[in-house]
Amino acid sequence: MYKSLKKLKRKYGIFNPLQNQLKLDDILSTNFISSLLKDNLYIPFTGWSLRPYCLAYVLNEILINNRKSIIEFGSGISTILIARLAQLNDLDLRLISVEHNLEWQNHIKKILDKEQLDQYVEFASIPLTKSENSLDNLTWYDEENLNKQVKETKFDLVLVDGPPADLGLERFTAMPFLIDKLATSYTIFLDDAHRKDEQQITHLWKKQYDLQFEIHGGTLGVCRKGNHFDSNPVLYSF
Ligand SMILES: C[S@@+](CC[C@H](N)C(=O)[O-])C[C@H]1O[C@@H](n2cnc3c(N)ncnc32)[C@H](O)[C@@H]1O
Repeated sequence: MYKSLKKLKRKYGIFNPLQNQLKLDDILSTNFISSLLKDNLYIPFTGWSLRPYCLAYVLNEILINNRKSIIEFGSGISTILIARLAQLNDLDLRLISVEHNLEWQNHIKKILDKEQLDQYVEFASIPLTKSENSLDNLTWYDEENLNKQVKETKFDLVLVDGPPADLGLERFTAMPFLIDKLATSYTIFLDDAHRKDEQQITHLWKKQYDLQFEIHGGTLGVCRKGNHFDSNPVLYSF
């Protein structure tokens, strides 16, 4: 009996107040972003997608802090919603979406094409390879290839949600690659920043690049430089 209760708890997060709080934040955030979800093609939210809370945070950040030069690692729902926001609110922005899996990228491209949103997204199809900047000999997006596409761009918004983080410290390499490519004012988001490996990554980014991350909404790492308005979609002060 005890064992099966433990299993249920792990699977559904029941009895876990933090997980229940995350779900409430996600329900609220889904309402906030609903104008980008309704009257459009159905898009498949899965456990791999950014949580609605994180999506609302990123979209708020673009609008409230006027972010125009965006790079994301790991295409998906985030790509589609940023493009839909740009169209709906008539924004002048450039999003480079870096993806290693061509089949997945084509899937996202198809949705953008059908909605005539392709003008808002520049896809970078970059295979994963060994990099001298990586930790533990792990792979990351091929930097030579990526540099050719990014050129001299300075980014004011970075979303690190790829490569898939099942191997450990892979996402570390985002900062050695980007540190000289940041605008004077910027925000960096790191998804799943609460996990042990991502905690180690933010610790190393602090040590090596003086980047200070806070975790918001239980899972999203946020690091800012420069003046900014608050874009956290779910923030209560009591
Ligand atoms: C965490 S996901 C990126 C999610 C994306 N930013 C979004 O908001 O949907 C990281 C990588 O996992 C892969 N991926 C995305 N969705 C997937 C799925 N449903 N099943 C397996 N792999 C997936 C893609 O290669 C993607 O680059």
